[in-house]
Amino acid sequence: MTRLGGPSVVVVEDADELGRVGADLVADELRRTPGAWVSVATGETPMGMYAELAARRRSGLLDTGGLTPVQLDEYLGLEPDDRRTFFGWMRRSFLEPLGIADERVVRLPLDGDLAAACAAFDRTLDARGGLDLAILGIGTNGHLGFNEPPVDPGAPTREVGLSTATIDANARYWGDVNDVPTRAVTTGMRQLLAARAIVMVVSGPTKREIVHRALEEPVTPQVPASFLQETGAAVTVIVDREAWGEGDPS
Ligand code: GLP
Repeated sequence: MTRLGGPSVVVVEDADELGRVGADLVADELRRTPGAWVSVATGETPMGMYAELAARRRSGLLDTGGLTPVQLDEYLGLEPDDRRTFFGWMRRSFLEPLGIADERVVRLPLDGDLAAACAAFDRTLDARGGLDLAILGIGTNGHLGFNEPPVDPGAPTREVGLSTATIDANARYWGDVNDVPTRAVTTGMRQLLAARAIVMVVSGPTKREIVHRALEEPVTPQVPASFLQETGAAVTVIVDREAWGEGDPS
């Protein structure tokens, strides 16, 4: 389903189909650009897609040898071996299954002069022409990565405070709201919106209201994902029936 001049919306019936359709898009991108730089979301929604990509690689259908993963977001204040780091989640779900060494990841800074290090991260991406692909989820409040609302579409990579909505939503990952760190770093909106291609995956009834606000209502800093309506990137949103509801995208 395609809307001219805006995101293409693909409604899928279930998690399996979401994984297959998402893997098709990512695999196509890696064939087109073998040395692609790809921003990699954690969160629950892309897990089936990563498992499908790993299965294709095992069957010799996918080559990840040239892929450079770029970290999308990360909590602050955790030890490197803490079970809650997004890097650890990325390693378990994406790097190891796809045969990619940790050292190949363009990582977000976690300490020291964060403002300077985040600016250096942006310069590294700018110097090679930005992201080829951003794989994104969406927060229940419309955030991309940890770009919390209200957000400027030109926002750089930076340190952020997490909203109550995000802390509540992230509690399901770690057991309790008190287990969710309150500060994070995120790849900035500017880099994400400048990616050549964007694949956003959306699943489940808790995302229904926000996905419609992001795609069908006016663009607003209050819904960071609504800026996907305005980017020059090729945006594909894969959304399951539970999140989309009845009917087809117009
Ligand atoms: C989290 C992360 C995002 C993720 C989003 C959706 O807070 N910051 O990177 O894409 O929220 O996660 P999920 O797919 O688990 O719903």
